[in-house]
Amino acid sequence: MGFGEYVRWLERDERLDPLVARMRKLARRLPAGRVRNVLHGVQLGHPLHPISVHLPIGTWTAAVLLDVLPGDHRRSAHALIDLGLLAAVPAAVSGTADWSQQHSRQQRVGAVHAVANGASALLFGASSLARYRGRQAWGRGLALVGAGTLGLGGYLGGHITYYRAGGANSADPLVDLIPPGWHDLGPLDGFQDQQVTGKDVRGVPVVVTRSGQSVSALLGMCTHMGAPLAEGTLADGCIRCPWHESSFRADSGTVEEGPATAALEVLESSVEDGRVWVRAEPGPSR
Ligand code: FES
Repeated sequence: MGFGEYVRWLERDERLDPLVARMRKLARRLPAGRVRNVLHGVQLGHPLHPISVHLPIGTWTAAVLLDVLPGDHRRSAHALIDLGLLAAVPAAVSGTADWSQQHSRQQRVGAVHAVANGASALLFGASSLARYRGRQAWGRGLALVGAGTLGLGGYLGGHITYYRAGGANSADPLVDLIPPGWHDLGPLDGFQDQQVTGKDVRGVPVVVTRSGQSVSALLGMCTHMGAPLAEGTLADGCIRCPWHESSFRADSGTVEEGPATAALEVLESSVEDGRVWVRAEPGPSR
């Protein structure tokens, strides 16, 4: 059985649910609005968490390497560990914000990921303390164990990101499935003014919003975790996702509110002879 099988077993392990529930309570204390958008990475266009983990992982790994290299690197290793402890705070907070808007499979693995990384922070903190007290051997030993738990935490984070697509743009492949050229979505009268209407183009979901005689069309799947945006609502020019309430500009697809970080793909739209047409690729107008 490969490691991936063990992690999938974790995904199904309901004994983790009390821990998940406690972590959810903590996550609810994170501020909403602009701060939460920053934590998700809305302004970046992709999640902040994978970027913010580089510093603690890099500094702690470098400290452990300095510990085993020939020469006296005690001060440098100690400084790197302390820097990693500082950098672990935004990494943990941004990860908690993302985790709080994921499905239970991801949250169970994410809870173990958080415990492993929390243990790493404690071990590197204890290593720093030991070094301050001049107990270098303890400091090196604790850092080495911390590097082990850090590796486990990183592996589980990789599973959430790459196996379960946590943080990926769930709608990304869809636009390439729309055949080239214009596609007829039906008569304009079939689209209610100031409402979200769901359609599909050869099986690819599309959402259309109408304002008078003009329409805007976007891919109809939320980039966060694939919710059907046809079930969303339109308010203040934005489509709100029915699952975790990300908000996308109906005309441009840009994200106004996370947890989604990737914009929705815009389809070119046109109203001709009372019918609505869309296409994915730019080209000659109808
Ligand atoms: S699926 Fe999570 S915000 Fe849309």
